[in-house]
This record gives sequence, structure tokens and C-alpha cells, in this order.
Amino acid sequence: MQTEYLQGGILRGHGRDHVRLLFFIFPGGGKAPKVLLSKLARWVTSASSQEEQRRTYRASGNNTDSLFVNLFLTSQGYARLGCLGFGERVRGAAQTARNGKFFHGGMAAAFSLDELSDRLVDWEDPYQPVTQARVGDPHLVGSPFDGMLLLARDREADLELECCTLRRLIEASGGQCLLEEAGKVMRQGPGAHPVEHFGYVDGVSNPELLPTAATLNRNSWDPSAPLEQVLVRDPFVPEEFGTLLVYRKLEQNVQLFRDLVASAVTATGLSPALIGAQMVGRFPDGTPTVRSSIPLGKALPDDTFTYQEDPTGTACPFFAHTRKVNPRLDGGTAEAERRRRRIVRRGITYGERETGLTDAPTGGVGLLFMAFMANIDEQFAFIQKRWANDASFLKAPTNIDPLIGQVLNLATGAYDPRSFSLRGSSFSWQSAVTMRGGEYFFAPSIPFLHNPLAG
Ligand code: HEM
Repeated sequence: MQTEYLQGGILRGHGRDHVRLLFFIFPGGGKAPKVLLSKLARWVTSASSQEEQRRTYRASGNNTDSLFVNLFLTSQGYARLGCLGFGERVRGAAQTARNGKFFHGGMAAAFSLDELSDRLVDWEDPYQPVTQARVGDPHLVGSPFDGMLLLARDREADLELECCTLRRLIEASGGQCLLEEAGKVMRQGPGAHPVEHFGYVDGVSNPELLPTAATLNRNSWDPSAPLEQVLVRDPFVPEEFGTLLVYRKLEQNVQLFRDLVASAVTATGLSPALIGAQMVGRFPDGTPTVRSSIPLGKALPDDTFTYQEDPTGTACPFFAHTRKVNPRLDGGTAEAERRRRRIVRRGITYGERETGLTDAPTGGVGLLFMAFMANIDEQFAFIQKRWANDASFLKAPTNIDPLIGQVLNLATGAYDPRSFSLRGSSFSWQSAVTMRGGEYFFAPSIPFLHNPLAG
């Protein structure tokens, strides 16, 4: 694998504080989509140039800022480029038919909605599926988008200008920009670790694709993961690599989360800090509850723990978000299989908040969840459906994931509140996270982007 031909951001996060996601469709007719793609390709940051930028940034004492760009395509995007047979080619690279079904149908297809218990009625308009007259089939219902550009920078004003330039490039070629999302890293202080809207540090644990000797020699949790867990052969340039991207806009109702914590406090007599930490698996500062019953205030959150330290689920309940989505060493013989499910998270928060997160918005803020993986079905969808949404995982009766678990009541079409229990007292809880729209993308290799005509 040559890193100059792999898109950046996959092996290592881009690390910028501001992001714009530009969702677009190609111009119609002949070679126009391919011509536009190769123009956009010139903007894309490779993994090797990302490393170069990182070195310059460090050498300058973190004083330089540079633009970072990714380009992702939907299944429709490939069809519009005339690159058919994507699924068959991906399957050839040891992928499964179900993975192809997720990618091809898109996130709004009945198959994906059913698997994940997603409700289309909650989705914002631009994400709603459209009939695909554009790809020549008026009966096919699919993604409204052909592709997405991710632009990232520390200086927001510069990012805005570059975003305008790319918009103009797309529109001048006859394409259309349908939607722009803005993401921004939130911190509780300068240089502090990023937090999500409920106030917990996020983006701590990830599979390490480029592990250092220090991580490999640890005798506790081993975060390393083989490259095959994320990279797959580019279906149209088989000697190079790409990856699948799962994107979900997850709105967070901060007021509801706080109300739920308050009512659990009344029911259990436990402190609000402990209730929240038991739902998440970590305190707001990142201290894992298996390691301490109070926040330890470490600048670098601990990522060395495993759940072998808490086999009874006393310190960290089996339903806690982090335990459901990555049950580190909870599995005995199933461990190898569970490690294989891990995904590389590269999400970013969206929406404005007051300093110190003192306000409590009921909407308009949340997480632009983005995760890279080699197989949607066996990784993201498995985690969401078989772990987070399954009340009997890790063991019955565990309950669903209180942050992202969703089980549709077929009779009412709504999500039921659940009864959770801590230290013998029960309380009602419902998710304060609503899925507002999303899509499956592929991050093609750079040679494909430059020369799709060869595909
Ligand atoms: C708004 C929605 C979400 C919120 C507020 C949230 C919050 C958090 C927080 C606070 C952590 C602990 C910090 C860290 O390890 O980075 C975490 C970890 C994690 N989350 Fe989420 N998350 C959300 C959605 C999701 C979704 C949709 C998935 C996947 C289906 C997911 C998968 C993970 C994973 C794999 C970890 C790392 C667990 C570990 O290795 O210990 N999260 N999340």
C-alpha cells in the first residue's frame, strides 16, 4: 500500500478544529461527472501529504494551518460515473453480499432502516431519499447525494473561503451542492481534549492502525488493529486501497439528558456525576468508571483499562455506552471476533454552545458521526444492531445502550422508554439522541479520483 495513493484522515485523524461537509451531485451527461471528479481530486489530501503537514505543524510549534480535504462517493455516485459493478468487485475482495446491500441501498433504504431501527420520519429534508431518475431508473429510490467533500482547517474564515471555491467549482461544472454541514471541535479549555454535547470527553478510544512500540508492549488493553480492519482494495484500482465511511447526523437533546439524569438521581439516591458516568462508561473528564468511582482529572484520558477488571458490572454496568460498543476483554473466547468489529471513529460535534456548556439546548446540536471500516455489515451495523440495540447483549438482561440504543415499537412506530436499574433501584430512561440523516460512502484511492475514466 502506498500512502501517497491513500486518502488522508483514515490511518490518523486530520486533527483540525473546523470541518465543512459539502454534499453534492455530479452534472449530467457523458463525461461531465468524470471531468468534475478529476478536478476535485486535485484538492484531496493523501495520507503521505497529511504526514508532511503534520511534521510542518509540529516543527512550527503548532503555528501553521493547512487545508485538509477528503472526497467520498455514494453508490449512486459510482453509477453516475459509469463505474458499474462496484458491489461485485468489492465482493471479490473478500467482502460479503450484506455489506454490498448496505452500501448499494444507502442508509435510507428499507434494508438499512430495518436493520438499524432507524426512523425516516426523524430525518431532515436534505437527507430524505429521492427517486433516481438521475441514474436512469425513475423507480429506484436512493441517496440524494453522489458524493461528499470533507474540508478541514483550524482557521474558520479560511475554511469558509475554500469551501466557497469548491462550491463554485462544482456549480460551474453543472453539478449541485445540496447541503453543507459545519462541524467544530468543542473543548472545556485551551488545549483540552474534545468533548461532545453531553459534556464528556470524546474521541479517546480508537483502533490504532499505526501502533507504536509503547502501545504494543502494554500488558493491558491492546488498541492495535490490522490495516485490513479498515482498508479494502479499491474496486477499480485493485492495487490501491480505500475504505467505507458511515456518516450519521446524531442530534443531542442536552436538556433531556440532564432531566433523565436528575430523575435517576431521585430514584437511586446516587450523585448526578455517577449516574451520567455509569450511562457513558466514563466520567466527563474521561476517567473510566472501572478504574475509579470519582473523576481523576487526568489531562490524557486513560485508555488502558479492560472490563476483566469489573466482571460483575458493578463499576461499569453492562449497558454503559463504552462497554456495549467495545466490550474489551468481556468476551472470553469471543474476544478475537469482537476485536474485529472495531471501527475508526472520526466524528466531530456540530451546533453552537455557550462557553462552559452552561446552556441546555433541546436540539440543533449533536455529533456528525463518521467512522471508517472495511465492512459496514460486520462492523458498524453489527455494533449498532447486535450490541447497542440488543437488550440481552452482553448478557441478559443487560438493556440497550442508553446513548444510542434504539428499539422501535412496531405498534406505535416510536421508541419506547426503558427501565434501567443501578444498585437495585430502577428509573426510566430514553435516548436523548435522534438520528437526523446519514449515508454510506466509499473513500476511493487517489489514482481512481484522478483518472476515473480508466475505471
Ligand atoms: C451522539 C451520539 C454519541 C455520543 C454522545 C457518544 C459518546 C461517546 C463517548 C463520551 C465515548 C467515550 C470516549 C471515547 O472513548 O472516545 C464514546 C466512545 C465510543 N463510542 Fe460513542 N457516542 C455516540 C455515538 C456512537 C455511535 C453511533 C457509535 C457506533 C455505533 C459509537 C461508538 C463508540 C465507540 C466504539 C467508542 C469507544 C469505546 C471504547 O473503545 O472504549 N458511538 N462515545
